[in-house]
Amino acid sequence: MNEIALKDRLIVALDMPTVEEAARLVALLDQGVHFYKVGLELLFAGGLDFAEHLKSHGKRVFLDMKLLDIGNTVERAVANAADFGVDFLTVHGHDLKTLRAAVAGRSSSPMKLLAVTVLTNLSAHDLEQQGNRMTPAELVLHRARMAHEAGFDGVIASGQEARRIRDAVGPKFLIVTPGIRLEGSAMDDQERVMTPGHAISAGADHIVVGRPITQSDDPKAAALSFMHHIRDALA
Ligand code: C5P
Repeated sequence: MNEIALKDRLIVALDMPTVEEAARLVALLDQGVHFYKVGLELLFAGGLDFAEHLKSHGKRVFLDMKLLDIGNTVERAVANAADFGVDFLTVHGHDLKTLRAAVAGRSSSPMKLLAVTVLTNLSAHDLEQQGNRMTPAELVLHRARMAHEAGFDGVIASGQEARRIRDAVGPKFLIVTPGIRLEGSAMDDQERVMTPGHAISAGADHIVVGRPITQSDDPKAAALSFMHHIRDALA
């Protein structure tokens, strides 16, 4: 497992309609959370400026762009994102051409490139509908190997696949795991979920948590509880 500070292991997904709401949550969580994910919803409501604001206040930022386009476009988009100064950026890990273009665009920037393997809300049935004959676990592993070969820093995958990825690509490759739920809590639209403790024990480096924290009656206590589960799993 990678040497990562405990405070950086929990990434809170700021999936919110406005920057004002995101700012309120970040102020409430205060020193309890150090790493935030800015994704598509917030990006269309001033999320990029907010990402910059978070960085200037010492937070780490994961820009969840989930890029997928022709190589030239991906390469240039990644180059601009690298100049922007975020910590993590996602690219869909469907093919080697796109992945290699992203690595070329990142150049010598310290920004980490993460490949989205198979979205955690997709089941075997959903993959079948896409015309894909692999199970989610097989496809995740296939794409993780491809991302590793292309020079990516890591992948986004569910906790259910973390151990197989870790075994296949070694200890340095980052495994970032969304679809995290505490025992017995609502799945929302997620399919391949896991508890924070199990995900970390299976080899995940970071866990991404959205609604279980952002929609909690007490987000600060919820974040703390996720932190405790991570700490216990690492101990
Ligand atoms: O609210 P919840 O904890 O389900 O949020 C999970 C977050 O992780 C969302 O922002 C979603 O976009 C993101 N994500 C995911 N599955 C992936 C990649 C990203 O759920 N494979």
